[in-house]
Amino acid sequence: MNVNQQQSEAWNGGESVHYVDHADRYDRQLQPFAAALLEAAGLEAHHRVLDVGCGCGVTTLSAAGTARQALGVDISTPLLEVAAARAGSQSLGNARFIVADAQIHDFDDAAFDIIISLFGLMFFDDPVSAFANLRRSMAPSGRLALVSWQGIDANEWLVIVRDAVAQHADVPALGGRAGGPGMFFLKDPDETTALLDAAGFTNVEISPLSPRILIAGGGSLDESADFMLGMGIVRGLVGRIEDPTARASAIDAIRMSLSERYEPGVGVRVGAAGWLVTADR
Ligand SMILES: C[S@@+](CC[C@H](N)C(=O)[O-])C[C@H]1O[C@@H](n2cnc3c(N)ncnc32)[C@H](O)[C@@H]1O
Repeated sequence: MNVNQQQSEAWNGGESVHYVDHADRYDRQLQPFAAALLEAAGLEAHHRVLDVGCGCGVTTLSAAGTARQALGVDISTPLLEVAAARAGSQSLGNARFIVADAQIHDFDDAAFDIIISLFGLMFFDDPVSAFANLRRSMAPSGRLALVSWQGIDANEWLVIVRDAVAQHADVPALGGRAGGPGMFFLKDPDETTALLDAAGFTNVEISPLSPRILIAGGGSLDESADFMLGMGIVRGLVGRIEDPTARASAIDAIRMSLSERYEPGVGVRVGAAGWLVTADR
C-alpha cells in the first residue's frame, strides 16, 4: 500500500463530494477558526506561505491577500479544482496550488517563511516524518501555525450526534495518536507537543479555541440539519446504527437538538472546540 493511500482515496472520493458541493458553507462554518489561525500566523507582505491540507483554499487565498506568495498543498484533486477556480475568480496571481502528499512531497529547502494549516495536519500515516518534511521546507526563522480539533466531548455540535447515536449503537472513543490518522488525531496537547518536538520544532505553544459556530454557515433549520447530516464524521457516526428504524430515530433526535439551538433568521449556533498550535522551526 502506498503512503497515506486510505486518506488519499477518501479525500479524492467520498469525503470530497460534500466539501466540493458546499465549499462556501464549510468556509462560513469554520470562519472563527480560520480567523484565529491567520491572526496567529502574523503574515507580512514579504512572507512565502505554505498552506497544508488547504482543501478548497480559503486560507491560502486569504494568505495570498497579505503575503508575497501562498502555495496550497493538498492530496485531493477535486478540492484543489475548487481552490484554483476561486484563485482565478479573485485574480490572485500569487496563489498557487499543487496536488501532493505533504508527508513526502519534495518541497525546496527553506522555501517558506510561514506554514499554516486549518484542520489539515491530522491525516498522516507517519506524522513525525510528515512534520519533519514540512520543517525542512521552512526558512531558519520559519514559523508553523495550525488548528486541530479538540476531542469530541468538547465539541457540542458532535456531542449532539454522539449522544443520539449512542442510544442505538456503540460509539468508540475517537482520536489521539494511538487511534491513527483522522479528525481527532491531534486532540491531546501533550501528544501534539511531543510529536512536534520529535519532528524538530521548538517553542511549541498550544491554546484553546472555543467559538460558537454556525452550522452550514447559517440558513434554515432544514438546510443546517441536512448539511450536518452530510458531513463525513456525522455520516460515519450515524452509519454505525444498522437498523434503519433506529437510524431514523437517531436522525430525528439530532434534528430536535439542532432545533433547540436554532436562531430564527440566522441559523443553528453550537459550541465547537479546537486547538491553536504554534511552533518555531
Ligand atoms: C478537514 S480537511 C480541511 C480542509 C481545509 N483546510 C479547510 O479547513 O476547509 C483536511 C484536508 O487535508 C487534506 N489532506 C489529507 N491528507 C493529506 C496529505 N497527506 N497531504 C496533503 N493534504 C492532505 C485533505 O485532502 C483535506 O483537504
